[in-house]
Amino acid sequence: MIVCSCLGLSERRIRADIESGARTLDELARGCGAGRDCGACVLDLADILAGSANGSPTRPANPPHEPRTEAQRGFP
Ligand code: FES
Repeated sequence: MIVCSCLGLSERRIRADIESGARTLDELARGCGAGRDCGACVLDLADILAGSANGSPTRPANPPHEPRTEAQRGFP
């Protein structure tokens, strides 16, 4: 299943980064880039991270980092 549609990143790819040591959304963003573009996948990424950490997926009240703006993403 694709989690980050901007970059075409699958849940398997996200979990591989977590297996390699990513523990936060910022670490996932620095690793595979998930969540750095439109930010629509951030809550799903948080669920995957939380589920990997303690087996009970939860969603944070606010994403811990701001997604890039359209200008930062290169839209006019
Ligand atoms: S869907 Fe992941 S950054 Fe857009």
